[in-house]
Amino acid sequence: MAEPCTFVIFGATGNLSQNKLLPALYHLEEAGHLPEGMVIAGIGRREWDNDQWCDQVAKLLDSRARYKMKPEVFARLRERLHFIQGDHNDEAFYEHLRQTLSESNAFSDNMVFYMAIRPADFGIVSRRLAEVGLNREDGGWRRLVVEKPFGYDLDSAQILEERLHRDFREEQIFRIDHYLGKGMVQNVLVFRFANLMLEPLWNRNYIDHVQITHSESQGIAGRAEYYDGAGALRDMIQSHLLQMLTMVAMEPPPSLDAEALRDEKVKVLRSIRPIPPNAVHAHTFRAQYARGTVNAEKVHGYLEEKGVPAQSTTETYATLKLYIDNWRWRNVPFYLRTGKRMAKDSSLISIRFKHPPQQLFRETQIEEIKPNWILLGIQPNECLRVELQVKQPGLEMSAGTTRFDASYCSSSELQLDAYEALLLDVISDDRSLFLRYDEVRWSWEVVDPILKVWATERDFIHTYPAGSWGPPGGNRLFDRDDQNWRNSLDADDDS
Ligand code: BG6
Repeated sequence: MAEPCTFVIFGATGNLSQNKLLPALYHLEEAGHLPEGMVIAGIGRREWDNDQWCDQVAKLLDSRARYKMKPEVFARLRERLHFIQGDHNDEAFYEHLRQTLSESNAFSDNMVFYMAIRPADFGIVSRRLAEVGLNREDGGWRRLVVEKPFGYDLDSAQILEERLHRDFREEQIFRIDHYLGKGMVQNVLVFRFANLMLEPLWNRNYIDHVQITHSESQGIAGRAEYYDGAGALRDMIQSHLLQMLTMVAMEPPPSLDAEALRDEKVKVLRSIRPIPPNAVHAHTFRAQYARGTVNAEKVHGYLEEKGVPAQSTTETYATLKLYIDNWRWRNVPFYLRTGKRMAKDSSLISIRFKHPPQQLFRETQIEEIKPNWILLGIQPNECLRVELQVKQPGLEMSAGTTRFDASYCSSSELQLDAYEALLLDVISDDRSLFLRYDEVRWSWEVVDPILKVWATERDFIHTYPAGSWGPPGGNRLFDRDDQNWRNSLDADDDS
């Protein structure tokens, strides 16, 4: 069990805290994983006292707890909750914070500062904490958790990095990418490196291409202020999708040690072939959702969402074709795709194998042999599926696809939320699932040239109806006609 600590949340009444952090802390409480003596100190601007905050947390957990909220679990959590009213943009607040945290025995000297706030404020909050000495590890450890997006582009990421490092040492900084906390993303490593039979096939000789798709049926969920300045490429691809790509493409690390793992991921990112400005159109496609129907309900287009400027050309859908120039992957396309208001919620890694070198079955009923696929379903269901061709029963020589599912293909209720694993890692000082700055930097190197070209082309954007699989233009990145998006675990759902 980890040591006692004070878990300070900046932005305790905001979106991230309500949707992810507080539910995750509740579930950890339920499972008995929170250390004794851990206090959760929420900072927010609202004029609330502790009881009002606790009541709000109870209300939100009522709707967000994985199972029905259990009063006895909440009672335990409530003991830990402590609201500190204040504005993190107000310089004077930090002295008050220091005094509050140091003057009561209730707060452990081991402290986590979790920035669930606007990315633009990360640098200033870190500065202010240092100014009042809250970065100093005199009596206990101090850790700073930084959410994505880390910077806005390559230059701003570098500036933010320098600012954080003025105040905190690298060992104190935890850069979160919550996709690394997802069970199935971690399982990619186990699947690859605990099963020798895959290794000879896992390369350019046998793999035709790799697809990584994250589709969401929801829109921007009231986050116009953030999203309109970010767009799909920054919001999902620069972070989560590129991290998934590194898991699929990395070499076996010498150990599971945090540095060894991150070294291998960085090597992949550094090997991604840069996209020069004149190739951006051939390698990318972007679009924005228009009105449509999602789950039988009519929904607004992006431009009609509250807070979105009327002329916005921010992309809510983006696709990208990348090549990794190393011995294992040279010339194997990696297609990345993400979108809001698409037909389904799904995160899926689909690996398509090449056709056998000889069409032995050409003269039989088996006219076109379907390729083998390995499908790694990240969510909504965790699943690992291999598709093979087998002869169908009967006199004819005809083939059909058989699917081997790993037995743990689980329903979503059994899945832990990514934040639960990551919050525990922060308090127990395990950094293997957090990003090192060079990973962030090399991810920005990949997307930065695209952002620069897109920034100059702001007068038009393609659209797609909400509830669809995106615009037809999203298909034009494929190298060959026989490559198509795989939309779900069941190929029959593809359209
Ligand atoms: C966040 C993005 O990082 O990830 C959101 O900012 C996106 O736009 C979310 O919806 C997806 O995460 P998950 O865990 O719900 O798949």
